[in-house]
Amino acid sequence: MSITASPDVARNARPYLYGGEEAAIASALSAGQYNHGAVTEEFEQALAAFLGVPDVVAVASGTAALHVGLLAAGVGPGHEVVVPSFTFCATVQAILAAGARPRFVEVNPDTGCVEPAEVLGALTPDTRAVMPVLYGGRAIDLSPARPALDEQGITVVEDAAQAFGSWQGERRVGATGVVTCFSFGPIKNLTCGLGGAIVPRTPLEANICRRLRGLGIVESAARRAEVTTYTIDGFGMRVQMSPLNAAVGLVQLVHFAEAETRRRALWRAYAAALDGIDGVSLVDADVDRTVPALCAVRVLDGRRDRVFHALLERGIGVAVHYPPNHTQPAFAAWHRPLPVTEHLGGQIMTLPFHQHLTEAAAEHITGELRAALAAETDR
Ligand SMILES: Cc1ncc(COP(=O)(O)O)c(C=O)c1O
Repeated sequence: MSITASPDVARNARPYLYGGEEAAIASALSAGQYNHGAVTEEFEQALAAFLGVPDVVAVASGTAALHVGLLAAGVGPGHEVVVPSFTFCATVQAILAAGARPRFVEVNPDTGCVEPAEVLGALTPDTRAVMPVLYGGRAIDLSPARPALDEQGITVVEDAAQAFGSWQGERRVGATGVVTCFSFGPIKNLTCGLGGAIVPRTPLEANICRRLRGLGIVESAARRAEVTTYTIDGFGMRVQMSPLNAAVGLVQLVHFAEAETRRRALWRAYAAALDGIDGVSLVDADVDRTVPALCAVRVLDGRRDRVFHALLERGIGVAVHYPPNHTQPAFAAWHRPLPVTEHLGGQIMTLPFHQHLTEAAAEHITGELRAALAAETDR
């Protein structure tokens, strides 16, 4: 069978299971707790130990993590959140869900990530939070901006949906002292099926996150089983992580070293194969510190759309992560001109990237990209 015909190559992304997830779900199913339960708490503790932090709060999705993280940081109506337009729409929807307004900023097109100077330039008296998006898993160090942010009472709430396991210096993303939000969706570095988590900065913030995710109820699930009433002391949603999802995450966490090694090896194989191909530029993932979630390239000279369709015709599942958000109808009220992002949005293309892929497949895909570009040049 040719590599082109392989469904692994055809898909841009695909969940990866290590074995053991099905048995873990079966066991959680028969335990009979589906909203929130002991397995969810076990997963929270395992995540905290892995990251080297005191506490982690698990929720139903990465989007819920961002929403809860913003609310816990005190973000609400009348506030602005500085956010790159170049992200998944979930980032922006979470800001709107918190009642705040996005203030869109540019990213560095070489990395897909926001720079400290860009953040500082976008602050207004209404800014209450900054939400850097760790594109493709790459950590973002905003420390040069931190003194100014701290002085103005502005919280950093990271969208680390794609960055589980990545490093910032000596610490994992999530252990750097800001509010960090992860996604454990189907194609993330670690999947729970669906799921997410917030790394809070203090025990108080952890408590607020737990109330926000659990309908505002003060007592823990265990405590509620022992008392005749309970207390609701504020707004809350039902966005807990089900033990069925947590059970999958626990198995995945045990095998995470494999994700780290495979994803880096695959990204490096792409980087080597792409080296010297004219007309494309690899978005730098800082692979030595990152557990890559994507392999993104920029297709130069206005050829992205044609190359994209040519690759689909060749059976290669390319995708676009992401069309900019500031030009979306839903976010028109917060539009501001962002020429760098608009240009990047017309160039960006992601290559198939998941743990089922081999280095040979990456070379094959790159060969198809080279052929598609050559066909374009000859037109
Ligand atoms: C950058 C980014 N932010 C937020 C999310 C939302 O995460 P979830 O799909 O788990 O809600 C995703 C996931 O797709 C993402 O890639």
